[in-house]
Amino acid sequence: MSQSLIKNIGLLVTNDSSLGKTELGLIENAALLIENGKVTWVGANESAPTAEKTIDAAGKAVIPGFVDSHNHLIFAKDRAAEFSARMKGESYTAGGISTTVAATRSATDDELLSNATRLVHEGLHSGTTTVEIKSGYGLTVKDEVRSLHIAKQLTNETTFLGAHVVPSEYKGKADEYVDLICEQMITQVKPHAKWIDVFCDKGAFTTGQARKILLAGKAAGLLPRLHANQLEQGDGHALGVEVGAASVDHISHFNNDDIELLKKSKTVATFLPGAEFSTRSKYPDARRLLEAGVMVAIASDCNPGSSYTTNMPLMIALAVREMYFTPEQALWSATYGGALALQRDDVGHLAVGARADFVILKESSYIHLAYRPGVNLIDDVWQHGKRS
Ligand code: NIG
Ligand code: FE
Repeated sequence: MSQSLIKNIGLLVTNDSSLGKTELGLIENAALLIENGKVTWVGANESAPTAEKTIDAAGKAVIPGFVDSHNHLIFAKDRAAEFSARMKGESYTAGGISTTVAATRSATDDELLSNATRLVHEGLHSGTTTVEIKSGYGLTVKDEVRSLHIAKQLTNETTFLGAHVVPSEYKGKADEYVDLICEQMITQVKPHAKWIDVFCDKGAFTTGQARKILLAGKAAGLLPRLHANQLEQGDGHALGVEVGAASVDHISHFNNDDIELLKKSKTVATFLPGAEFSTRSKYPDARRLLEAGVMVAIASDCNPGSSYTTNMPLMIALAVREMYFTPEQALWSATYGGALALQRDDVGHLAVGARADFVILKESSYIHLAYRPGVNLIDDVWQHGKRS
């Protein structure tokens, strides 16, 4: 049996509200026991049990590993020139996705796997211990299947996003492409995918097309989630709630009706502040959703177009500074919220029984994640009870 005790934790964030006075389940001067990759004991440092191996956290803060529930990591090449043009005044459109589709189709499996592996490791070193990966830069049966086959080698949280944009060979024939997704792609990607997603927005898919695709995916046993209202106010939230999506993501636009619908549902609202940052778009004010009690997550949306970063601490800093999250709400949303968005109860928290995925920070409080933006505050990352 492998056993490690992390002792002298200045501040432990468990996200188990029964262990502290707030949602974060904070314990000061704490210890954490890990056995065989799981948390088996949490409590006060002075009452900690003995263990085979002891690690001294020297008063630093320990938080659950980040659960980054929205990423597009299976692609080739980057779009630095497009970013530069945007910073000189061009605006972001869904059309840029086609550039990456062409590059991805021409890449080898090894190239795609090594690029995605690089990004997963980059995220891990900034504290991400659970990552979701979408396809969506293949857009042929063969290229979507291989994208998900590659993604599955890196995570169990794989999402089929054949409905990212209508590929150029189907220009003017969007409904035929929707049929290809529903009649061929879904069946063939099914062995490698847990989720199905649609980019339901201006320049991508209509609400009607998105509904058809999500329902076909559900019928085949895939679980729905949705890119909604990134570029304009639409029916994305309503569709997400209607089909029982685990999460509606981006949500740069929402109105009071959307808040009412989300409030009554189990659908998580996932904010992606990296996309607003990299497309120089207006940040949504998350307070109205948070105050209404909607379940909220934060993710990095790593992709070569609208948000080329894997850095969850930066997402927390942006969510706090620009979207009016409190530091507490932002940390909870980047951990527990992400786990809810992936319908996972084993990650995103450090209660007894949870997977031992956690981060030892270089500082004594999680507040520094927003307070010291751009600084590497990650001392150590543990995944499945092992130091990474
Ligand atoms: O989530 N919004 C749609 N898809 C990605 C962007 C993809 C791209 O620009 O390559 C996103 O932001
Ligand atoms: Fe996305």
